[in-house]
Amino acid sequence: MHYSPPFSFTARHPLDSDMSNPTPATPYGTLPAASPLPARKPVSLPRLAELRERGEKITMLTAYDATFAAVADAAGVECILVGDSLGMVCQGLASTAGVTLETMAYHVESVARGLRHVQGTAWLLGDLPFGSYHESKEQAMRSAAQLVHAGAHMIKLEGGGWTAEVVRFLVERGIPVCAHLGLTPQTVHALGGYRVQGRDDAAALALKRHALELQDAGATMLVLEMVPAALATEITQQLPRCHTIGIGAGKGTAGQVLVMHDMLGINLGKNPRFVRNFMDGASSVREAMASYVRAVKDGSFPDDTLHAW
Ligand code: KIV
Repeated sequence: MHYSPPFSFTARHPLDSDMSNPTPATPYGTLPAASPLPARKPVSLPRLAELRERGEKITMLTAYDATFAAVADAAGVECILVGDSLGMVCQGLASTAGVTLETMAYHVESVARGLRHVQGTAWLLGDLPFGSYHESKEQAMRSAAQLVHAGAHMIKLEGGGWTAEVVRFLVERGIPVCAHLGLTPQTVHALGGYRVQGRDDAAALALKRHALELQDAGATMLVLEMVPAALATEITQQLPRCHTIGIGAGKGTAGQVLVMHDMLGINLGKNPRFVRNFMDGASSVREAMASYVRAVKDGSFPDDTLHAW
């Protein structure tokens, strides 16, 4: 599919400097004063449904601070996820399980502030961390409210089965929810490591059932992580009202997500198979992110022969 960006990447975003009105250089990645012209219509649930309807892939990247979030917005990324992967990439934890709700709220607030500052229009998701929604639906509501207060438009939570009831409770109370199935990093130890999920018939069946239950409960997005491409495609076709966002799940999902550090090639460990380093051939972070957006939109990323199972 040929991709024409919905707005100019070069002229209208507040992050583009106005050469006719030079401002003094400012240190520490200072964000520019916001322009009165938003670069594109705000990304919303109807807008995401519209993209899906017309077969245009949805793009998502993680970001954890104001500047990277503003740059991702300027690059045309539609959804920014403040993922609890920040425990690993920002805090140096061994897994995401140690991240607290307070830490999540701090980063969601930083990202929301960065986006607001440049009149960014991306859809902002905040991850509910491990332990913040597992006790009861009421606990989940209190935790979700904290992230919404910090600026999240949507919250994300991991797991299937027991989570459907929690999702329904939040959605009924006006909180859009993104679910997360397949490799769920918060429970990596129970899963036996970072390995592909849903490979055998029973596991694939359970995944499909959980996905349908989550859509029925009102989840409008579903991250599918490390799931065989054929299964992810089947699940996507089963879920017209819930947009699947793949990470290591092949090109058949409604959209794609990557952890920003991975796609910028600053993961010091071994990159997982599903990652492409978009800094290769890019002269700036913004260019790398724009190249990710183009590659997802035109279908060249992911390549199922390289990045999927
Ligand atoms: O925490 C995170 O960044 C995530 C993505 C890997 C989808 O959940």
